[in-house]
Amino acid sequence: MFVSDSILLQRDKFLILMNFEHEIAWENDQVYEEVYRKSIEFPNEFWMQYAQDITWKRVPTLAYDKKKNEWLSDGISNVCYNCVDRHAIETPRKPAIIWHGDEYGERREISYAELQQMVLQIAAILKNRGIKKNDVIGIYMPMIPEALASMLACSRIGAIHLVVFAGFSQEALKYRLTTSNARALLTVTSFRRGGKEISLAKNIPSDLDVDIINLDNVSFPKNAKAEIEWQNSDDDLFILYTSGSSGKPKGVLHSALPYMLYVTATFKVIFGIKSDDVYFCTSDIGWITGHSYTTYAPLFHGLTTVIFSGSPTYPQADRYWEIIEKERVSIFYTAPTAIRSLQMFNKKFVKKYDLSSLRVLGSVGEPINKSAWKWYFENIGNKRCPIMDTWWQTETGGIILAPLRNLNQKPGIAGKPFFGVETDIINGELVIKNKFPGLYKAIIPEFKKADNVLYKTGDEAVYEDSDIKIKGRMDDVINISGHRLGTAEFECAINKVDEVKESAVVAIPDELKGQTAFAYVVLTRPLEKNDCADIVKKIVNSTRNNIGSIAKPDYIAFVPDLPKTRSGKIVRKLLRDIANGNENSADLNSVINSEIIEILKASVKSPIFCPDMCKLK
Ligand code: PRX
Repeated sequence: MFVSDSILLQRDKFLILMNFEHEIAWENDQVYEEVYRKSIEFPNEFWMQYAQDITWKRVPTLAYDKKKNEWLSDGISNVCYNCVDRHAIETPRKPAIIWHGDEYGERREISYAELQQMVLQIAAILKNRGIKKNDVIGIYMPMIPEALASMLACSRIGAIHLVVFAGFSQEALKYRLTTSNARALLTVTSFRRGGKEISLAKNIPSDLDVDIINLDNVSFPKNAKAEIEWQNSDDDLFILYTSGSSGKPKGVLHSALPYMLYVTATFKVIFGIKSDDVYFCTSDIGWITGHSYTTYAPLFHGLTTVIFSGSPTYPQADRYWEIIEKERVSIFYTAPTAIRSLQMFNKKFVKKYDLSSLRVLGSVGEPINKSAWKWYFENIGNKRCPIMDTWWQTETGGIILAPLRNLNQKPGIAGKPFFGVETDIINGELVIKNKFPGLYKAIIPEFKKADNVLYKTGDEAVYEDSDIKIKGRMDDVINISGHRLGTAEFECAINKVDEVKESAVVAIPDELKGQTAFAYVVLTRPLEKNDCADIVKKIVNSTRNNIGSIAKPDYIAFVPDLPKTRSGKIVRKLLRDIANGNENSADLNSVINSEIIEILKASVKSPIFCPDMCKLK
């Protein structure tokens, strides 16, 4: 619509250089190598080709301006316009969102025209409440169409959304809203999951200077109007909090237009999308996957995105397969932890359904183990569908590594860097050496800008032939069921219990969750036989209240002391090795209380299993 001649010229030059179509670029080694080499050599032409999928109010003349360190500097557009309005004009009746609820048959279908109305109404409410460009708006909602529409409504008026996962506690919600200076919070009273009513209203802090907008009891304005706020490359789309090494989660800020370019290009190429694809990503909008690949990328490309607010095992362990059959899903993207949990159930739950509509499968969030990969490949994909094991992070906005989309994949190997992204492994750590449009802009609340030189991912990786295999985090981050949680966050919560003097949390492997939290706890007084269950419950409750129900330690070892250096630093490496039964790799000379080591080794042999202990009175 607004495409200028200059971009067409650039595109022609690029096509002559590259000579590829997005459907085949990620299928075969030779084509991949060729396109990759050229994308690094001609980054401007490469990104400008994908910038053409965006409808611009003003077309950018350059993809990356080195001098200004800016992407799409002179371009003007709007994310909501690209995800909703242009499709509401071209394909108004096509389903944009299909929602499935907690019970069989609970279903809503929202066309692009209806989604536009929903977005306009929410945007108009925000406008009426005085929300302006760059205001931060919290979203605390289950996976319903209104939640996606709320994100899009913010983007429409240039507000910055801050989604807080509905499973996070009041404390976690409050921390995120205050540190990001949120002006308003969009929410609903409650929702049903796994057959239970879950209240969100009880978690809304009453002592905050935030305008609470409950979408289940507002009256929507008729013929709502909310003008599009056209944005340039400096404008932002969202903040999403995630865990790092410190005790407090960090807010990752993403800009609007460069993020949109990266997420939509990776989606198009890596999944090899077709216009009639029905796409089902199981990630909640509380996580980055729910932003990039449940909401923005599929809607941008005008596909139908299927969302599900129930539990995969309620009423039975067949909900994903039932939805795939019913909606004729062609691309299914989920997490290894979900696959492992469904793998445990009888195959009859899968065999009942016709899954022949599937073309491509995806996996994200943690390394996928061989057995889960094989089960997914054989039983869900019927040995016909490649599994896109995509590695990326909240900070990278979109997919960085994925295997080629063919049937020669090696289980558990994420594979190749996306075009235009230069990865390397330095001292065992995966790093990104060049600029790419998906990288976050700044970290909230300090507004610390992304480093200009090298992006260190914090993940350990190795080469296997020419492919990259991810081994896991190198820092103090635990990945529990694909949920990223900092050990320091656990410790802060555990240390709030009166009887606790100090604690150290480390990750240990878990068959179902990938990893789980193991806590060494030092008490202020000797543990008495009768109060063990009480203290364990207090510890578990404190993590639940301060973080959320996903963040419970599974194992606790009560110990008399923790190994420390002369300066009082806890020697975590040693604690990790002991809990995992590994050969010690820490420098023991630095431990001043080395007599504690044997006691620790003995105590980890029979730790307390919290779920059992919490069942006791
Ligand atoms: O350790 C990696 C793991 O998840 C971390 C990022 O977590 P988060 O920011 O919450 O984003 C998750 C969804 C993109 C990474 O540092 N991770 C993610 N995907 C994979 C993975 N580990 C191995 N293989 C993957 N495919």
